[in-house]
Amino acid sequence: APSQRHTSKQRFLAEFSQCLYEFVIQLLPTREELIVKEDVRKLLERLIRTIEPESRLLSFGSTANGFSLRNSDMDLCCLIDSEERLSASDLVTMLGDLLERETKFHVKPLPHARIPIVKLSLDPSPGLPYGIACDIGFENRLALENTRLLMCYALIDPPRVRTMVLFLKVWCKRRKINSPYKGTLSSYGYVLLVIFFLVHVKNPPVLPNLQQMPPMRPISQEETTLHGHNIWFFDDIELLRGRWQSSNTESVAELLVDFFRFYARDFQYNTGVASIRAGLLKKDSKGWASESDRGTARERNRLCIEDPFEVDFNVSRCVTRDGLYTIRGELMRASRILASRPERAIVALAQLCE
Ligand code: GTP
Ligand code: MG
Repeated sequence: APSQRHTSKQRFLAEFSQCLYEFVIQLLPTREELIVKEDVRKLLERLIRTIEPESRLLSFGSTANGFSLRNSDMDLCCLIDSEERLSASDLVTMLGDLLERETKFHVKPLPHARIPIVKLSLDPSPGLPYGIACDIGFENRLALENTRLLMCYALIDPPRVRTMVLFLKVWCKRRKINSPYKGTLSSYGYVLLVIFFLVHVKNPPVLPNLQQMPPMRPISQEETTLHGHNIWFFDDIELLRGRWQSSNTESVAELLVDFFRFYARDFQYNTGVASIRAGLLKKDSKGWASESDRGTARERNRLCIEDPFEVDFNVSRCVTRDGLYTIRGELMRASRILASRPERAIVALAQLCE
């Protein structure tokens, strides 16, 4: 009987891996969508250059890091190479006016937000059945760098890393636990949880720690510092492939089952900080557990995920007590569904994303 159980488990996992690949492929953006988005980026860049001739408009977030689902938002960042430039909030106001006059986008400038942005959207049309939503920010160079870091992690092992991340993005959207504004976690936060798991929890690791690998040539501090943060990481993935190979051979299904089990049961939410840079840290050691400022630090730091470069920044600071309770409930639900191993893997997948 034990060996029979063993084979039925193996069979389930093999079938579930196959289901995951097939499911995720259908959700990738189409070629047309990518072309339209690139056209939109170019159009917006042309318009912005009528205000700031020295500017470039770069894509970041999921459209640039390989973790994009069909119809995902576009995150754009405007970099200005000249010395004298307008303030971000002035730019937001001017660009908002210009786009309102010159394009068919719905335009919402937010010049006074903590990070000033212009929000744009296009209504659905026959060629663009879901429309487009897009945010334009300014000078957010750290976001460009963390996008590049995530892209490098995706490139090391696309079949396992991209499949896991894309599946979890669908899962957390369908289960409605992907809204920082409502006390749950951003997509960026979920991606960091996956990478933390693959670098620091799995043994042997599925991914190397790109921020801790020795550089190939001496690198000056100047080159690797941005706004006071160390942004160095090993980014030559071609070269890395020749030097490093994971000895972890688990399938994507095994990894996903284990991911849910780890975050449902084992991760130390009360004391731990997930850091892809440094492994598991303690809230105490980062000063993220202090009660001194009337309990607010504690409320902000229910779930702690250290940003890879802005190490004083908790990416999951928006997660509330209720939000975390809901997220953990969902992780346990997913873990339970997978542990029960329904007869058909496709049924498990459908239940997970109900
Ligand atoms: P979808 O939009 O759901 O497809 O996911 P996404 O991968 O684009 O993630 P999200 O929209 O959450 O974030 C987009 C990008 O913004 C990320 O890749 C980061 O570069 C940046 N970002 C988002 N949240 C934070 C944050 O809390 N801190 C920092 N430093 N950057 C963030
Ligand atoms: Mg995004």
